Amino acid sequence: MTFQTTPEKGRFITFEGGEGVGKSTQLARLAGHLRDCGVEVVTTREPGGTSKAEKLREFLLSGRAAPLGPLAEAALFSAARADHVATLIAPALKRGAWVLCDRFADSTRAYQGANGGVDAKTLALLERAAVGETRPDLTIMLDLPAQEGLARAASRRDGCEAADRFENEAPSFHEELRQAFLAIAESEPERCCVIDASLSVDGVARAVRALVHDRFLAHAAQAAQ
Ligand code: TMP
Repeated sequence: MTFQTTPEKGRFITFEGGEGVGKSTQLARLAGHLRDCGVEVVTTREPGGTSKAEKLREFLLSGRAAPLGPLAEAALFSAARADHVATLIAPALKRGAWVLCDRFADSTRAYQGANGGVDAKTLALLERAAVGETRPDLTIMLDLPAQEGLARAASRRDGCEAADRFENEAPSFHEELRQAFLAIAESEPERCCVIDASLSVDGVARAVRALVHDRFLAHAAQAAQ
């Protein structure tokens, strides 16, 4: 199967969800599938994706930014995003590539907004400044009870690495995150689709693939009419 992409603009797909929901695995599976379909795919992640943003990632996830407070953390995630969008994402979309990104602006809305960390208006201003017109065409929200995700994340580390800045937050924070992602999906049903991440890896991958085919093949068929 071949996807039609316009030379002026590719597709921007983001994967979102709490800790341990399997975003990276599913992103890699979808990227492989799209490449098999002849699509140019760029895979990336947030925070990160460029050398400057990766430096900010290291600072943020080590917890060294936490004493600066939630607004400063939100601003730093947004600064990393602004560089990522300008340097990597927007140019790739412009040349017609599909960009698959592990987390994007919804993570700032959910994580930095959780527990009343930063108010929604401020987060919206930061988001607009960081992303401009570069908004996802599709956001895949992988959903899992918070405790299950945390257990998966811990077993993935297998005692080799310490939990990062946000994994260390209280269970109530993680449950709140889950609700925040679900609320975003409910408020933007055109863009977001929730997938049950408790299915097997293959089951989730099939659901993701079906969703992407539906969204973009239906779109291509309509455009051709
Ligand atoms: P991950 O790449 O393993 O998911 O780790 C990224 C961590 O950073 C994760 O705990 C979520 C957090 N995060 C935010 O708090 N805000 C953001 O805007 C982004 C992109 C990530």
